[in-house]
Amino acid sequence: MALWGGRFSSATRDEVALYSESISFDKRLYRHDIEGSKAHVKMLAARGIIPQATCDAIRAELDNIRRRIEAGDFTYDIALEDIHMHIESALIEALGSEGARVHSARSRNDQVALDIRLYLREEIDFLIGEIRHFQRALVGQAAANPEVILPGFTHLQHAQVVCFAHHMLAYVEMLDRDAERLADCRRRVNVMPLGSGALAGSTLPIDREMVCRELGFDRVTRNSMDAVADRDFAIELVNALAIFAMHTSRLSEDLILWCSQEFGFVELDDAFCTGSSLMPQKKNPDVCELTRGKTARVYGDLTALLTMCKGLPLTYNRDLQEDKVAIFDALDTVKMILKVYPPMIETMRIRPEAMRAAASDPALMATDLAEKLVELKVPFRTAHHRVGSFVKYCRERGKRLDEVTLEEMRETIPEATPEFLTLFDPVKSVAKRDVTGGTGYHQVAQQIEYWKNLLA
Ligand code: ARG
Repeated sequence: MALWGGRFSSATRDEVALYSESISFDKRLYRHDIEGSKAHVKMLAARGIIPQATCDAIRAELDNIRRRIEAGDFTYDIALEDIHMHIESALIEALGSEGARVHSARSRNDQVALDIRLYLREEIDFLIGEIRHFQRALVGQAAANPEVILPGFTHLQHAQVVCFAHHMLAYVEMLDRDAERLADCRRRVNVMPLGSGALAGSTLPIDREMVCRELGFDRVTRNSMDAVADRDFAIELVNALAIFAMHTSRLSEDLILWCSQEFGFVELDDAFCTGSSLMPQKKNPDVCELTRGKTARVYGDLTALLTMCKGLPLTYNRDLQEDKVAIFDALDTVKMILKVYPPMIETMRIRPEAMRAAASDPALMATDLAEKLVELKVPFRTAHHRVGSFVKYCRERGKRLDEVTLEEMRETIPEATPEFLTLFDPVKSVAKRDVTGGTGYHQVAQQIEYWKNLLA
């Protein structure tokens, strides 16, 4: 029977034990649960709530339990519900009534809140390191191809010529904000809830500040009801993960397009693609497609957490046990993305000739013509209209924009000078966008240096 036997006269039905267990997924919190219990008993002994000898015996046995779990020498039983009860009952089994002192001044409600916070703190630190690695892979591609140009798109239509490196660095910026969001969320994760008890604190003379110091938290929670009831720190984290996944999904979509026969801008290494069981010629960007799919799953996790919490009266309700399913799934999914993407980006072969050929469409330089007119003091809206008419003129005659004479150009752009005919060079077009944040080679080179230093 479970550890709360006193009040009960019959055991939980098997189906109910199966329905209500969380050990199958919360066992991954064992290290954090043990770390928390070790700090807790140290404080209990320091405050004279339990004897020092009991504290020492419990701490040694907790280390022993940890070794047993890691050696696969620990039996799980759904009748013991969750990781907290498994570890407590293993202590009692080993130490008898001395082990039964560990749960003084503690409830599983503040215990699980503590464990999740300890776990998420560690995960956040790991994730930030992995995101930096991902950024380095993108910066590496940018730095290796500083001169490569391609069409930039809006509405998936040719817009203006950009550097390939600029495109890569756009994702580096997004990932940087993802890392910042995680770091910011960590500040709210790193708050110590133990001592909140079931919901109201404890009558025992505990020292929460001591536990806080022992476990490396920034501060203790201020309100015991909030501390056991709320999971906003986890929702925030999954939100940050959802945004990260969304960014990765957009990158994936770019790569899927770029790998297609129509674009042919990049080739992903065979190790990141699969073939077709039927069509022998196929090489599919499955990893990228899966990321779009997995992103939907992370959104599902976020939605599950938000929905789970919205109708809960204070304080703890058992619904909250399901939080870990969503939190772990989002974390596992994102960690897999982070494992696969850096090497996929590093090994990606780019096709500068194909990019360059697509970037040679003179229509991509239409804005440059309009801006040249602005330099000649034509109001921009007039300039836009003139160049629009010029594009129409060329289309109607079945000509590319760079296939007309100056006289022909002047039919729609009377101010055109011979210089206008030289504006269709995509390399010069890129070079001229030499404004902070622009795609000019000089600007992009500076950005590459900036990121190299920052990520070194
Ligand atoms: N397994 C529970 C969870 O994950 C632990 C807390 C249970 N507390 C309770 N009062 N039943 O949320």
